[in-house]
Amino acid sequence: MGQKQFIESSRDQGGIVFRPGLEGVPVTHSAICDIDGIQGKLSYRGYSIEELASQSTFLETTYLLIWGELPNPQQLRDFEEEVQRHRRVSFRVRDMMKCFPATGHPMDALQSSAASLGLFYSRRAIDDPQYIYDAVVRLIAKIPTMVAAFQLIRKGQDPIQPRDDLAYSANFLYMLTEREPDPLAARILDKCLILHAEHSLNASTFSARVTASTLTDPYAVVASAVGTLAGPLHGGANEDVLAMLEEIGKPQNAANFLQKAITSKTKVMGFGHREYRVKDPRASILQGLAEELFARFGKDEMYEVAKAVEDESLLNLASKGIYPNVDFYSGLVYRKLGIPRDLFTPVFAISRVAGWLAHWREQLGANRIFRPTQIYTGFSGRSWAPPEDRSMKESN
Ligand code: SDX
Repeated sequence: MGQKQFIESSRDQGGIVFRPGLEGVPVTHSAICDIDGIQGKLSYRGYSIEELASQSTFLETTYLLIWGELPNPQQLRDFEEEVQRHRRVSFRVRDMMKCFPATGHPMDALQSSAASLGLFYSRRAIDDPQYIYDAVVRLIAKIPTMVAAFQLIRKGQDPIQPRDDLAYSANFLYMLTEREPDPLAARILDKCLILHAEHSLNASTFSARVTASTLTDPYAVVASAVGTLAGPLHGGANEDVLAMLEEIGKPQNAANFLQKAITSKTKVMGFGHREYRVKDPRASILQGLAEELFARFGKDEMYEVAKAVEDESLLNLASKGIYPNVDFYSGLVYRKLGIPRDLFTPVFAISRVAGWLAHWREQLGANRIFRPTQIYTGFSGRSWAPPEDRSMKESN
């Protein structure tokens, strides 16, 4: 029989609609994050992103995402102390990272080192709340240390140990830059981590849930999600936005650049979203954080280019529901914080570990292994022939 024709969106015999990329298809119930893509609203466990970014801390928000309630003072103190106590990473992991090529992408280094944690914590007691708590603490605590460690190692230096007197975000910037950060810089990074912590069933969180549904360990769950986040259509876009702004160069070039992109159907990095049909609320908050940093530490000239791109996009992308997303302004904030460009996505990962672990825990609470089906479009009924009898046509 010949090869069946590829089918776009369609109804199969069961009456179930085939939706490429599962667009609009609910695959789980979840109480973690709600997105209103039409109104441009985002909330974690019922609290608006605006209020959490303004009032909370990343560790407090992490606790909320994973256990569903804001921690009381004792719970918050215990969680902060436990995370602080577990920031260090075994010399075996650090020595392993010294074997990575210095030219490797930090997201590959992070995926490898996150997965390696499973070798050290091999016990799998995923029905034990204490095991879940300990795994959350270890991953939230150690991921920033591993991101910072690779940065120093690839420069030919030994990584530096965490400083127990510094809070979470300040300590990450210290381990990364070897200098104690300005309090404003640490506070703004902490808000960025809140903004990137969770976003319902985005691609990397879906990866996390699929991996979690096989009942493997949380380190494999996070490693699976890191690999997914690395892609340029997902978490990797923040790196590409800066390159795009530098290519545009000046605000007056924005209109021409956008026109060319639209004509050539090239995706404009940092724009568009599967859920939002208006500006991503996180982009608006990040823009405010960028302006706060510029007021204190000097402006980034690419900011005027970014604003020109956004203004021009209102003329020709907005009509298609394409607006700036979370990645459009985040790179300008991270660059002003002294974070190297190829670490923008690892910083996204540091934050999104909170969301991935919240979904890991929720999946375990009502698990059914993910195993969707397909519409087969291949050959059938073919017979094997010896090599000498096969035609020379190229295989596709
Ligand atoms: C993140 O899902 C999440 O929640 C992700 C995230 C999170 O917090 O986890 O928000 C983080 O990943 C943000 C997105 C970062 N990626 C980018 O900025 C890369 C550029 N954006 C696009 O690749 C795209 O917008 C996606 C991937 C984000 C969404 O793509 P969809 O929903 O699959 O939309 P599509 O590719 O089917 O496009 C629909 C139409 C097409 O036009 P037509 O063929 O119908 O004429 O919109 C156009 C697309 O060409 N379009 C764009 C565009 N994005 C979509 N046109 C120009 N520039 C863009 N960026």
